[in-house]
Amino acid sequence: MPCAGSRWDSREGSDARSLGEGAACDSPMWVLHAAPVLSFFGELYLRSTLPFLSEETTAREVAYLARSFQGLRVPGPVVDLGCGHGRHAARLNARGPLAGRVLGLELDEQSLQERLPGFPAVRADLRSLPFRTGSLAGAYAWYSSLFIFSDEEHVALLREVARCLKPGGLLVLQTVPYERLASQPEASFSTRLPDGSLLEERSRFDAVRGRDEATRKLTRPDGRVLSGHYAIRYYPLADLTQLLEFTGFSLRWVHGGLEEERPSDTSTDLVVGAELRHG
Ligand SMILES: C[S@@+](CC[C@H](N)C(=O)[O-])C[C@H]1O[C@@H](n2cnc3c(N)ncnc32)[C@H](O)[C@@H]1O
Repeated sequence: MPCAGSRWDSREGSDARSLGEGAACDSPMWVLHAAPVLSFFGELYLRSTLPFLSEETTAREVAYLARSFQGLRVPGPVVDLGCGHGRHAARLNARGPLAGRVLGLELDEQSLQERLPGFPAVRADLRSLPFRTGSLAGAYAWYSSLFIFSDEEHVALLREVARCLKPGGLLVLQTVPYERLASQPEASFSTRLPDGSLLEERSRFDAVRGRDEATRKLTRPDGRVLSGHYAIRYYPLADLTQLLEFTGFSLRWVHGGLEEERPSDTSTDLVVGAELRHG
């Protein structure tokens, strides 16, 4: 996907500290970090991705998420993991089954500063969730946002999500099918954005490691250059299922698209719903 968010960098770490016992989810924004720098996220990601995110696309994704959480019986907050500027969280928190229950989690300061109004957010690292054990009703992550780390970190991260969920809590994850990357392992493009910036990207998918690595460069109209590297892990469905089960979840559904299609060779999305396993 050129710039609609499926490929990005995950190299930078951070030092999130848990809010610990007594943390409440009603603060407009918590700042938990000493300003770590994300080389790819932040200005480069925002300026190169937002022009490709149409209202229609976001509306369809929001509708999908609203349907996914509609039947959730578990009370409590639902966290948008890697919420970015909040295109899903703002709408879901405004109306529908999750109204007033959505909290964004995001590490990048600029994304939070520029976020849409109408939902609370916490600045924290996905790998160290600042929530009490068993305090969340649900969580979701769009655009492979949970799979930008190492395999070991993905295990730890999903266990962290499981720790934070209440029994019966729901996790919804959107990514791109492994087969789609494998069928076109090399990609490059160069395009002008509406503001005159030149956007260039090259990516390569290593099917053995299941990792897509890319560099993106944005040359601004004033000549300023922003560039960054990113890597995303794409798991074949069987491996993703195993990963979820290994980390405490039971798979509830698998969709190949936002209309809840069955996965097929032509699917552009892979969206899974998983419930925290009892016992
Ligand atoms: C691909 S973007 C998706 C943004 C948003 N969910 C959307 O669909 O528009 C991934 C997001 O995860 C954030 N992110 C990256 N590493 C993170 C980390 N370690 N902890 C928290 N957020 C992180 C990025 O800043 C970025 O906003």
